[in-house]
Amino acid sequence: MDADTQSMKTMRLYDQVERINNELLALGIAEDAALNVEQLTPFDQYHYHGTNAVDDAVRVAQIGAGSKVLEIGSGIGGPARWLAHSAKCRVTALELQPDLNALAEHLTARCGLPGQVSHVCGNFLEAPLSGQQFDAIVSFLCFLHIPAREKLFQLSYEALTPGGRIVIEDYTKLREPDARQRDLLKTKVQCPWLPDAQTYHRQLQDAGLIVEEFTDMSVDWTAFTAERLAAFRGARERNEDIHGKEVTAGLDDFYDTVATMFAEGVIGGARIVARKASNP
Ligand SMILES: C[S@@+](CC[C@H](N)C(=O)[O-])C[C@H]1O[C@@H](n2cnc3c(N)ncnc32)[C@H](O)[C@@H]1O
Repeated sequence: MDADTQSMKTMRLYDQVERINNELLALGIAEDAALNVEQLTPFDQYHYHGTNAVDDAVRVAQIGAGSKVLEIGSGIGGPARWLAHSAKCRVTALELQPDLNALAEHLTARCGLPGQVSHVCGNFLEAPLSGQQFDAIVSFLCFLHIPAREKLFQLSYEALTPGGRIVIEDYTKLREPDARQRDLLKTKVQCPWLPDAQTYHRQLQDAGLIVEEFTDMSVDWTAFTAERLAAFRGARERNEDIHGKEVTAGLDDFYDTVATMFAEGVIGGARIVARKASNP
């Protein structure tokens, strides 16, 4: 693991990701047993509102059987498997962190989906997909880790076929963080910089994308993250039994930090749909 990838682990969601096997074992599913995609979805979606958010992306990006889809920042593969399973499309799942990518690949094989989902480990900013183009791009809570927005959106534009859409769920800046908030965002959320909604919108347009939707998710995600924290704390004993004290404390710390940043009005969220012109 290189230094950049190692530094991601201060965000505790990304530490000891094999904990998903503890959840499966608790359901009586042995470590290498075959799986179906539905068995994983309570545990493999590292964004808000789980598969409902992925279903919304399928609808707005008009993803269907045979579509060629790229997910940027695919985590342990939850959205990519759900896309392949529910929309019958082909997915390239690009993930920066080797341990997450390896686990994603293993879970996808256990679901019998490797023909539909290709996992690639790499940094999107280093253009690891050798000029391929996709009918749609989706990205859930990944761009908040990437301050180099100009390059990010330029590469996204280039990776879309003409007429293709990109669906992004991401944080936005609601107000300037103070020093404590900046430090928490940088270390515990791996979020060193965020644009406000207006800047975000302009940066997409500057890359040549036509912004079709820019939905403010701030109120929704403030409630979601508060409820997630409360539910996690309500199940502390159960979580410690299944995962042990260290993993439970790490996740608690992460969920708490994120809920606090939303509650303090520093970060908000957006769901964005943008399109590349049919005749660019
Ligand atoms: C919050 S997780 C979301 C994972 C997945 N989209 C999901 O919703 O389950 C964001 C992921 O983006 C990945 N990521 C961050 N920067 C990236 C980059 N430059 N290239 C590829 N993946 C990246 C992180 O390693 C992380 O796994």
